[in-house]
Amino acid sequence: MKKLDIEAAFQKKFGTTCLIVRSPGRVNLIGEHTDYNNGFVLPAAIDKAAYVAIAKRTDNKVVMYATAFNQDFEISLKEIKTTTLGWPNYILGVIDQIQKTGVELGGCNLLIDGDIPIGAGLSSSAALECATLFAFNELFGLQFTRIQMAFMAQKAEHDFAGVHCGLMDMFASLFGKKDHVIKLDCRSLEYEYVPLDIKGYKILLLNTNVKHQLSSSEYNTRRIQCEQGITWIQQQEPTVNSLRDATIEMLEKYVLPKDILIYNRCKYVVEENIRLISACADLENGNIEALGKKMFATHEGLKSLYEVSCPELDFLVDQVKGHPAVLGARMMGGGFGGCTINIVKEEAIESLVTMLEPLYEKHTQKRLSHYIASIEAGTSML
Ligand code: GLA
Repeated sequence: MKKLDIEAAFQKKFGTTCLIVRSPGRVNLIGEHTDYNNGFVLPAAIDKAAYVAIAKRTDNKVVMYATAFNQDFEISLKEIKTTTLGWPNYILGVIDQIQKTGVELGGCNLLIDGDIPIGAGLSSSAALECATLFAFNELFGLQFTRIQMAFMAQKAEHDFAGVHCGLMDMFASLFGKKDHVIKLDCRSLEYEYVPLDIKGYKILLLNTNVKHQLSSSEYNTRRIQCEQGITWIQQQEPTVNSLRDATIEMLEKYVLPKDILIYNRCKYVVEENIRLISACADLENGNIEALGKKMFATHEGLKSLYEVSCPELDFLVDQVKGHPAVLGARMMGGGFGGCTINIVKEEAIESLVTMLEPLYEKHTQKRLSHYIASIEAGTSML
């Protein structure tokens, strides 16, 4: 159905047929803020996705239309640069990356659609970047591999959105596999699909509907703080290249005496890597209870040590803690808003949400939305 709707919308807008690419958003079970520290992550692609429909033009223009905003944007391929309009930057950043490889593109029309809630921490921007790259790759026969596209999308985000993100979101969108999470080693790029076998339980996302202005600048600050910690350790232990190689003892010896804030940031990352490794073993052994406990511990670290949570996220995690149907919950993604990820017994979801909605609204004066995420395959043509 989605395909027919998009084809019809494209035909109406541009008067031709098109190629359509779907690229999903993602969840991350555990392993937060570890990707840019060379650690592990455990994401999965979900049933919500960005869609890019594309067809060639005969001139040198890129003409795009976003259904969500009912907005058009037009630019010449020779003048690709950021715009104040917002959403076109994800497409422009991708075109910029492609052109930087030396490829000559021709003009094209693009229609952007999707159902990933924006600003919810489900990586709508990475999904859009990956969908756009995949669409250009198909239309112009560019032959980029998925891993090349993941790196290009990441760079597009750095250069055109100003967020110095890691690789997790793009990797999850491009490499997702139905009913599996991806255990990705962000240092070696080795990855393994782990079956998400949580019988009787579902992944419930609770959206705070909060997106703090500070989220991008604070994100970039966290990266710098981690790098500072590494620099101090390296002065004594030159073989340590990232927080992946650091230990709590090293942090106590070389970072704590210099700056407690940097110590806290680094401590969270080192602990989170350890947690992820044992969470993977929990998943493989079918011990979802133990995995859930680690999710709560991750939230505590993100809140108190890494300080990327916010009162609305904390409220939602506190409310479900100790609830008999909830095995684990934590804030997910970069932080400062977005969703919590919860592992909840399927038959209890409705009553849990009914209980939480009025409480959340009363406490925060904001609306609570929820989604049950199913785990789907990565980027593909429709
Ligand atoms: C954002 C970034 C990712 C990752 C997470 C935190 O989603 O885009 O690269 O760092 O935050 O784990």
